[in-house]
Amino acid sequence: MDTPKELNEIVLPQPVDGPLTRSAIFLVLCIRPEPTNYAAVRSFCADLPGLVRAIEFRNVEAGLTCVIGFGSDAWDKLFGSPRPAELHPFREIRSGNRHAVSTPGDLLFHIRAKRADLCFELAMQIMDEIGDAVSVADEVHGFRYFDDRDVIGFVDGTENPRGQAAQDAAIVGKEDPAFSGGSYVLVQKYLHDMKGWNALPVETQERIIGRKKLSDVELKDSEKPPYAHNALTVIEESGKELKILRDNMPFGRPGHGEFGTYFIGYSRTPRITETMLQNMFIGRPPGTYDRLLDFSTAKTGSLFFAPSSSFLDNISGHPPDSTATEASPEAEAISSSSAADTSKQSLGIGSLKGHKDE
Ligand code: HEM
Repeated sequence: MDTPKELNEIVLPQPVDGPLTRSAIFLVLCIRPEPTNYAAVRSFCADLPGLVRAIEFRNVEAGLTCVIGFGSDAWDKLFGSPRPAELHPFREIRSGNRHAVSTPGDLLFHIRAKRADLCFELAMQIMDEIGDAVSVADEVHGFRYFDDRDVIGFVDGTENPRGQAAQDAAIVGKEDPAFSGGSYVLVQKYLHDMKGWNALPVETQERIIGRKKLSDVELKDSEKPPYAHNALTVIEESGKELKILRDNMPFGRPGHGEFGTYFIGYSRTPRITETMLQNMFIGRPPGTYDRLLDFSTAKTGSLFFAPSSSFLDNISGHPPDSTATEASPEAEAISSSSAADTSKQSLGIGSLKGHKDE
């Protein structure tokens, strides 16, 4: 039999395409450098599904889910080789006064439920288990705002792929057999200048987003400027649109004047999300950048790989063999050229047909 063993097994993804929920917690952690901490995190990974089940069962209707992702350097130290083909540290982008920052992160927990208490309980239990082995890089508690709007007042998520299309967009297939069922996760925490944004006429805001504010209807091509958010984030290759799966959440602290959007994008290859970012920050063509960035500042930026549930189930407490722990060749080169002409790039990922169909 020639077929690789892993392709004969049923590979279950983590719940990356879970339904939109009322609440979410985004927890980004760094593992403290002592080797015992990596061992502690590795054995915790095997316990995580049971922990989620225990809390989920306290209110099944609330639909608690948790996705865990691993940063590039942490992957090497936790699991060694093989590694997901396209996992690398987040590549910062600088253009004009815009900066997509790259910030540390070894572990991402994306916790979602209809009720904030379940998210809170799981985050608390996670920190109870591994708190001594990690430091907290970022923690954001998101909430659903009216009819799925972000704090700048626009409905967010409308053009997300659904059903099989969501799986096809977000889940790695046969192109990386050892990691099929996994997903690349890119996160960025944005803060908004709400005074500046609210000072704009609604029609100007609508041209920046590319949709009507109240009705959420997309602007006609004749009305939509080339710098519109939904013009720059639509990526096509060979006439086919390359989608990602987003679950942005508003967050904030009105008492501190803090109003934000936590961007999270799952994709089958990080190149799609990275191309969107280049279009937003540098512009397509360069200079035609996303005007949303005149009112939004990226405070964090990290890339993770969320392996399949089957991978998590098979993690043992054993460390990877020492030959496999060298950092990837990409590890040091995290800065991308802001002068790149993004308009001519090909993502070269060929068919996006989901692995279930293949
Ligand atoms: C400041 C943070 C952001 C805000 C407030 C925001 C908001 C929005 C809104 C309101 C829409 C229109 C409704 C929809 O289709 O979802 C949208 C669409 C979209 N956004 Fe964002 N977004 C942000 C950052 C990003 C980033 C960083 C990316 C990618 C790297 C991105 C990718 C997309 C995509 C792919 C669409 C759908 C375009 C389409 O197919 O029409 N967004 N976003």
